[in-house]
Amino acid sequence: MSINRNELLQARYGRQSTPENIIWNEQIEALISHRSVRSFLDEPLPDGALETIVAAAQSASTSSNLHQWSVVAISDPTMKAELARLTHSASMRGGGYDFVSEAPTILLWVADMSRNHDLVTSKGAVPEVVEYVDAFLMASLDAALAGQNGLVAAEAIGLGGVYLGSLRNHSQELADLIGLPAYAYVVFGMAVGKPDPHRPAALRPRPAQSVVLHHEKYQPQPSHEWVEEYEEVFKDFRAEYGLRDKTWADAVVVGTGLPYMDGRENLRQTLQERGYQLR
Ligand SMILES: Cc1cc2nc3c(=O)[nH]c(=O)nc-3n(C[C@H](O)[C@H](O)[C@H](O)COP(=O)(O)O)c2cc1C
Repeated sequence: MSINRNELLQARYGRQSTPENIIWNEQIEALISHRSVRSFLDEPLPDGALETIVAAAQSASTSSNLHQWSVVAISDPTMKAELARLTHSASMRGGGYDFVSEAPTILLWVADMSRNHDLVTSKGAVPEVVEYVDAFLMASLDAALAGQNGLVAAEAIGLGGVYLGSLRNHSQELADLIGLPAYAYVVFGMAVGKPDPHRPAALRPRPAQSVVLHHEKYQPQPSHEWVEEYEEVFKDFRAEYGLRDKTWADAVVVGTGLPYMDGRENLRQTLQERGYQLR
C-alpha cells in the first residue's frame, strides 16, 4: 500500500491536530509507516534477513557498552507451536496466537546478564549490581532497544513483525524451553516474516502530539481533555477496519485489570528465581 506523506500523518493522527513541520526523508517516512503485522506468507525469511536484523539490533545503544541482551531465533515448527501455546491467555478461546505458529520466525529478545555475570565471577570479583532493580532495568532496556532496531530493520527490508509481550505469560516455562541460563529472561518475543498482501495490516492512530510532548515542565492533563478527541479517531479507525465497536478507555480499563495478566503476575517470582533480586 503506497500512500503519500500527508495521508500518512492523517492516518497516524486522524482528525486530531497534525504536525505540519515534519522534516521528511525516507527513514522518517518508514518509521511513521510502522504497523504491527500478524499475517504472514508461508515462506522462510530471505537469506541474510536474520543477520541484517541482528546487525541493526547490535547497532542500538547499549547501557555502559555492556551488551546485556541476546536474541534466540525460533523457526522449527514444533518449537513455534510451543511458543504459540505459551501465548495462551484466559480471554482467548483457542490455544494461543495462531500467527505465532504461522510466522516463519519468532525472535525471543532476552535481557541477558548471564555472560557478564560469568565473566565477572571468573575474574574472582562479585557482580553485586546484579541484585539491584537498576541492573534488571538496564538489561531489559538493552533488549528493548535492540528489538526495536531489529523490527525497524525488518520493515526496511520488506518484512513485517509484531512484538509478543504475551510470551511473558509463562516466563519460566519459556526459559526452560529454550534452555536459558540464570540471570537471563525473555523480555518479549517478536513474530517476523513477509507480510501477507491479502491481509494487510492497518496503521493505528496515536493520540495527538500534545498528549505526549511537554515543554520544559511536565503539564498534567486531565484525561477528559484529550481522551474524547482520541476516542473519535479510535472509533473512526475501528469502523474503517470493521472492528468491534469499543472505546479506547474500555481497552485501557480491561488492560489494567488482573485477569489480563495471564500469568505475568508471577513475573517477579520468576525473575527472582532466575537470579534477579530486584533490590
Ligand atoms: C512490548 C510490546 C508487547 C506487545 N505484545 C503484543 C502481543 O503479545 N500480542 C500482540 O498481538 N501485539 C502485541 N504488541 C503490539 C501492540 O499491540 C501494538 O504495537 C499496538 O497495538 C500499536 O499498533 P501498531 O504497532 O500496529 O502501531 C506489543 C507491543 C509492544 C511494544
